[in-house]
Amino acid sequence: MALLPILRLGHPTLRAKARPVADPTDPAVAQLVPDMLATMLAANGVGLAAPQVDHRLRLIVWKPLALRGEATDEVLALFNPALVPLGDAVELGVEGCLSIPELRGLVPRYVRVGLTGLDPEGRRVEREASGFEARILQHEVDHLDGVVYLDRMADMASLGYGPELDAAMREGGTL
Ligand code: NI
Repeated sequence: MALLPILRLGHPTLRAKARPVADPTDPAVAQLVPDMLATMLAANGVGLAAPQVDHRLRLIVWKPLALRGEATDEVLALFNPALVPLGDAVELGVEGCLSIPELRGLVPRYVRVGLTGLDPEGRRVEREASGFEARILQHEVDHLDGVVYLDRMADMASLGYGPELDAAMREGGTL
């Protein structure tokens, strides 16, 4: 297990389209799963995509129960993830990104999504997610296509630094 350097916005890999992984059990890619999970947790992240650690592969890891208050260390990894919206409901929520340090912004995302892909053993996975987990998944799958949350923001006026945004909200302002 190794902690990997996280690329920051401006590195071309973050804007490249990642390629599917034929065999998740191939030792050349399998080692990325524990390395990415360790890197995500060490950075206090709730999701990480392979391009963020300079691998142009369709692999994401995430903490499904992040911010729900449950005491759990559950983390998941999925190769070749594919998302479909379940319903038309969209909501605005705050996002940040380990590749865009300190900034946050409001991003519209589908409330519910269906997810398919391959787990690290190469088994097909089908899953539904909603709320914050659905948001994480949409954010991470975007990374596989060279898209960052800034590209999805409806109003750039909501972009800012965490403490300043928190202060603005305490004063009754809206983001
Ligand atoms: Ni990100």
